[in-house]
Amino acid sequence: MSEVEGVAPIGEAEASEIRTGPKYTRNNPYQSTVVLNYLLNGADSEKETRHLAFALEEGMTYTPGDAIGVLPENRAESVAEVLDALGFTGDERVLDHYKSEISFEEALRSRLSIGKLARGSIGLYAKLTSARECGGKGFEALNALSGPANKARAEEYCWGREFIDLLHDFPGVVTDPQQLFNILQRLVPRLYSISSSQLVHPDTAETTVRVIRYDTHGRSRQGVASGQLGERASVGTALPVFLHDNQNFRMPEDTSTPIIMIGPGTGVAPFRAFLEHRRVLGATGGNWLIFGDQRRASDFLYEDQFRTMQEDGTLTRLDTAFSRDQAEKIYVQDRLRENATELYAWLEQGAFFYVCGDATRMAKSVEEALLDAIAKGKNGTLDDAAEYLAIMKKQHRYQRDVY
Ligand SMILES: Cc1cc2nc3c(=O)[nH]c(=O)nc-3n(C[C@H](O)[C@H](O)[C@H](O)COP(=O)(O)OP(=O)(O)OC[C@H]3O[C@@H](n4cnc5c(N)ncnc54)[C@H](O)[C@@H]3O)c2cc1C
Ligand SMILES: NC(=O)c1ccc[n+]([C@@H]2O[C@H](COP(=O)([O-])OP(=O)(O)OC[C@H]3O[C@@H](n4cnc5c(N)ncnc54)[C@H](OP(=O)(O)O)[C@@H]3O)[C@@H](O)[C@H]2O)c1
Repeated sequence: MSEVEGVAPIGEAEASEIRTGPKYTRNNPYQSTVVLNYLLNGADSEKETRHLAFALEEGMTYTPGDAIGVLPENRAESVAEVLDALGFTGDERVLDHYKSEISFEEALRSRLSIGKLARGSIGLYAKLTSARECGGKGFEALNALSGPANKARAEEYCWGREFIDLLHDFPGVVTDPQQLFNILQRLVPRLYSISSSQLVHPDTAETTVRVIRYDTHGRSRQGVASGQLGERASVGTALPVFLHDNQNFRMPEDTSTPIIMIGPGTGVAPFRAFLEHRRVLGATGGNWLIFGDQRRASDFLYEDQFRTMQEDGTLTRLDTAFSRDQAEKIYVQDRLRENATELYAWLEQGAFFYVCGDATRMAKSVEEALLDAIAKGKNGTLDDAAEYLAIMKKQHRYQRDVY
């Protein structure tokens, strides 16, 4: 290898330090074992949220705020349905994305996204056929879902549908298993916020997983990864995972700095980690958690642990917003508004403000409530509040991990 002009060559030790990255990555995952998997919700809950812990190898380290990536597999029933609809056995040989030869069954199980249908897949599927070959609803109907002019119609068709629905509606199109690598997206890892501190759990990474289940178009569906973690990941099961570094979601280095954490639903996950960590460190900064979910009786995730942390002084303040315990919905942003004066006082003491969970609605409403509280506290306008928040962002005191 040639040396760069003017730059001294690096020694072997330095080189290995520079090269040091995580040993395990999404392309080279660690074969972990599930060591905990239990339901967090009570019997009457509409949700299924599970606490799962994954064993780590010595040397695998994470920091509160990080996530763990899980490489999921499609359910055997879903794979069998697709094979049946296509009229293949699964023993056919195909080349995967790296041109390695594998069975078609393995491809459908671990390489191809046969779950949620992507709009682009419809156009690619349509390209494979002609009026003569396309069965079911027919070539015209399939064509009416593809191309830029039919974007909205295709989106509507995709909603709540999976690849199997396309195969049933428009059969007889696929003639060669390899074609699926051109039609379908890759099955990609799913990330889960780590809900433990390694100071307390040196050998595991724990997570808080909401299992997605729903019925659409006459079928019972489930999320690929969360369904697997909910149904096929009992203690002892092996699963490929990797740690995912998240530098944008970090506790303040100075442990005397107060923190405010907004974490409804599974959004509470990283804050359990923050609190565990700060408890062990004996952090003197205040910890204020605002948690929300549907019902106190069945959905107060980690209630016992948070109560213990309140008693031992770790959790300075705990507010809850149970949306369905009364006629009017109450959300975490309502609690922020009710406590605007105290919130502003914490910010003035230098508090860091964290939000985790739903990106589409909750995070926006929380930001509005935060801006209102700042404006009120400053006795100023919303523009003044926006300026204040911009400074907080620059100081990394406003951090979000939303999905
Ligand atoms: C940084 C980060 C951290 C995360 N942390 C967590 C965490 O701590 N806990 C957690 O549970 N998740 C977390 N997630 C989300 C997680 O990564 C997965 O996206 C989630 O589990 C869904 O994956 P899945 O494979 O189960 O579902 P998929 O197979 O990917 O299906 C999900 C899709 O199903 C569709 N869908 C869902 N419900 C319905 C419905 N009722 N009707 C019609 N369609 C529907 C939607 O299109 C949705 O996008 C995080 C994501 C990121 C990016
Ligand atoms: N991308 C994905 O595939 C995926 C997978 C898993 C989770 N998620 C997201 O992760 C988040 C956490 O999921 P979760 O099921 O644990 O909890 P969730 O759906 O966020 O629900 C938690 C609490 O937030 C409330 N809520 C609903 N709308 C809100 C709003 N606009 N502002 C503030 N609070 C609101 C809910 O109330 P009500 O239900 O009573 O309205 C409930 O009390 C969700 O946003 C979910 O969409 C995404």
